Amino acid sequence: MRLKDKVAVITGGTRGLGRAIAERYLDEGASVVCAARNPYRIDQLVEQLPDRVMYHETDVTSPESVEGLLEAAARTFGRVDILVANAGVNRDGKVDRLAVDDWRAMVDTNLSGTYFSLRAAARLMTAQGSGRIVTVSSSMASRVAVGAGGYSATKAAIECLTRVSAIELGPKGVQVNCLAPGVLDDGMGRALTDNHKVWDAYRTRFALGRVGTLDEAALGAVFLASDDSSYVNGHVLEVNGGLLWA
Ligand SMILES: NC(=O)c1ccc[n+]([C@@H]2O[C@H](COP(=O)([O-])OP(=O)(O)OC[C@H]3O[C@@H](n4cnc5c(N)ncnc54)[C@H](OP(=O)(O)O)[C@@H]3O)[C@@H](O)[C@H]2O)c1
Repeated sequence: MRLKDKVAVITGGTRGLGRAIAERYLDEGASVVCAARNPYRIDQLVEQLPDRVMYHETDVTSPESVEGLLEAAARTFGRVDILVANAGVNRDGKVDRLAVDDWRAMVDTNLSGTYFSLRAAARLMTAQGSGRIVTVSSSMASRVAVGAGGYSATKAAIECLTRVSAIELGPKGVQVNCLAPGVLDDGMGRALTDNHKVWDAYRTRFALGRVGTLDEAALGAVFLASDDSSYVNGHVLEVNGGLLWA
């Protein structure tokens, strides 16, 4: 019960990695607010634990929407101890072909969405004098792959934002770290593993010979939100099984 009685807000918490993090946080004793544009199947979790799970319709590309999310979470549960800024999108396209709308979707959701979430949480947490913020990057922030220019650029920027936030907010009692998963077996990772031609070419680049599970990445998010990481700040935690990638 490493997160007993903590209150966590998880953007993109309805499915994929965010959902896996929500389930792990619940196992560890936290209450969770799962935020996204659509509820997906979050009612299953709400029905199981109505006092500890809340869905809040949120669009992270809107600062007002994210501020409303943090206010609703604090109103319902009394405080917010943890933010996981997880919502993200991926659009492939070589740099000379990537559609402007796709570029904007990644910048608006991944980078601006993370910033708006972090900013709203930081204001609330610095007033409390404590808090944990976990941003979500990707192994693609520090490696290159054809067609991943826009996605990688937004994820690299998230890592930079994390480090700066850590030194600004650390003195106010708020720790900021980043989870950088490799390729996972569900969510957006499936675009790679479901494409057999591409996956056969990439398979040998995973030192453990397989992709990770959503739950294995979620365990990293538990570590970064719990007292187990009480002296970790401004860190990018790679959970990628050892990626042999140029
Ligand atoms: N899965 C992987 O292999 C992998 C690897 C490395 C990093 N990651 C990172 O992990 C995070 C989650 O990815 P995933 O694989 O779980 O993706 P996913 O299955 O596509 O889930 C994305 C989540 O983000 C939400 N979302 C998207 N746009 C949003 C917006 N504008 N406002 C609020 N919520 C929004 C989605 O809900 P709605 O669409 O209903 O809003 C959904 O809940 C991303 O940041 C991704 O870059 C994933």
